[in-house]
Amino acid sequence: MAAANHHLLPHDDQPSNSSCEPLLPKFIEVEENISQECRDIISGLPREEGWFQNSLYQFKGFWDQAWLIQGALGFQKHFEARDDDILLVTTPKSGTTWLKAILYATLNRSNFPPNSHNHPLLTNSPHMLLPFMEGSHQDNISRDRIDGMASPRLLFTHLPYSSLPESVKHSSCKIVFLCRNPKDNFVSLWHFANKIRPKTWGTLSLEEAFDKFCRGVSPHGPFWDHVLGYWLESLKRSEKVKFLKYEDLKDQPVASLKTLAHFIGHSFSQEEEANGVIDNIVSLCSFENLSNLKVNKDGELPFGMAAGAYFRQGQVGDSVNYLSSESLEKIDSIAEQKFGPHGLKF
Ligand code: A3P
Repeated sequence: MAAANHHLLPHDDQPSNSSCEPLLPKFIEVEENISQECRDIISGLPREEGWFQNSLYQFKGFWDQAWLIQGALGFQKHFEARDDDILLVTTPKSGTTWLKAILYATLNRSNFPPNSHNHPLLTNSPHMLLPFMEGSHQDNISRDRIDGMASPRLLFTHLPYSSLPESVKHSSCKIVFLCRNPKDNFVSLWHFANKIRPKTWGTLSLEEAFDKFCRGVSPHGPFWDHVLGYWLESLKRSEKVKFLKYEDLKDQPVASLKTLAHFIGHSFSQEEEANGVIDNIVSLCSFENLSNLKVNKDGELPFGMAAGAYFRQGQVGDSVNYLSSESLEKIDSIAEQKFGPHGLKF
């Protein structure tokens, strides 16, 4: 099996968290440095105050920060998918960190057995091991790094299906989509926003965040349309798009991992299964293990994010501890209205 993405690992002379995208500046700087072309585009777009940092603009139906719109345009224009690429797509706060780790460990298991003491996930945040496509398509150098990656490439984006590059849609590359029940997704997003917002922005109240989320004004939102785009495509092309839910991964990690490995064309052999390889990947990538690693507790990611912000509780159903029954019902009713007619349930 090919050692996908292993060349993204740090060289001995680089700090351990500078492996994947060392060229990326901090959030504020990227916002200031967006191109004139992108400035012209966003100047005519609906704008709302962002959750984390920077405004959100509604572009082609979805809300995003200006520098990510710029990156999405670069991704759409320049990216050439390969048939054996694997593109992970998630709604923010649906378990991206977890699934990045699982896919990386699965794809690289020959070179890095999941129980080895020097596994890359023990010293690198999962976010450093997969390039973030709209984050990387800001400049030629980062773009060239992606072009230069060995196959099979493991790539990541938050973009909605409608915004994916044409070559992704038309090649045989696989799309793995992860989402989560909207109530927990919302609560996780709200916590995350308050962890990473600049102090000068003050706290984002639960009420304000809830109103924005329900109106669809959330990063890469509307949540509903983002999820629905991939759900409908997975119904049409199940060999192309694998639709996963956080809750199913939590409930049945081993079975989910087997199905996932088969989907990406890297099935586990009977021997691997008998030798506990799947269990070892599940343990390596568990919340308990990853969240207690030094790199995930103290590390800093590109854009100046604390790696620890990506770990909170890792539980299903935590939203009942934060939302009133009225709010829970409101999200349920929007979900029913949006997803019900298409057979999607959480
Ligand atoms: P909570 O805030 O509900 O705890 P993302 O990676 O998409 O940003 O999602 C973050 C959410 O996934 C957080 O949810 C986080 O705690 C949870 N998470 C992170 N790593 C996880 C893991 N290994 N297993 C399960 N959940 C995990």
